[in-house]
Amino acid sequence: MLIDYNQARKEFNKYVSNYDYNDSKIKLKIIHTFGVVKMSEYIARDLKLTDEDIELAKLIALLHDIGRFEQAKVFSSFNDYETMDHAEYGVRILFEEGLIRKFIETDKYDQIIKLAILNHNKYAIEEGLKEKELLHAKIIRDADKTDNFRVKAEEDFDAINSNLSKHSLENDRITDKIYDRFMNKKPIINNERETTMDMWVSHLAFIFDYNFNSGLKYIKEHNYINVLVDRLNYNNPKTKEQMEKIRSLSIKFIEEQINVR
Ligand SMILES: [Fe+2]
Repeated sequence: MLIDYNQARKEFNKYVSNYDYNDSKIKLKIIHTFGVVKMSEYIARDLKLTDEDIELAKLIALLHDIGRFEQAKVFSSFNDYETMDHAEYGVRILFEEGLIRKFIETDKYDQIIKLAILNHNKYAIEEGLKEKELLHAKIIRDADKTDNFRVKAEEDFDAINSNLSKHSLENDRITDKIYDRFMNKKPIINNERETTMDMWVSHLAFIFDYNFNSGLKYIKEHNYINVLVDRLNYNNPKTKEQMEKIRSLSIKFIEEQINVR
């Protein structure tokens, strides 16, 4: 086997030991990384891929957010627009500075790994990818989104995003444009978000951007839509009503997708 995930995991643990585990943002991203590895494996197995592709999907998951640790340390923020594109930074340290060879000896998969990481945090996957590149770009996007439902269900708001607090969210409103996009079953473009509630709604809108149904099944099994909607008390009556509409549409959408695919 050309890919040794367990060896790569040891190298990953060595890499993150340079960062402060007591920093809630660092801790969140370490836990998230292993959550995404688990989801990538789940999706790859569901797709009945070969052992080689399953190991590759796990390796990509392990490395997809490698740029987050430096971003958290230097900026104490995960806002790519205000700080740096963490995917591009990850690709730079892996492929320009050569860190990748610590995780995998062969360069056979470099292009697949690079393109999967570069495309994982973009609104859409770029055009022109080859079949295997596209497959792995799709898996990491679905796996990342799915573990993010766990993150939003479990983690402190402050660790998720320094601009979020339960109090601010509960008293905020959803921008009309964002609500309309949601009700039209469209994923939300990050820089169109204006309020903290727009950010909260945009996480739920991830359901509209799945490539495979395994992640959606996982969301359903874990009741993540209800858990996320119920995590806050919406003090603004209009927001409260909108969140109920968002809840029903989401649950119905997931149900339909699972049944047709
Ligand atoms: Fe990421």
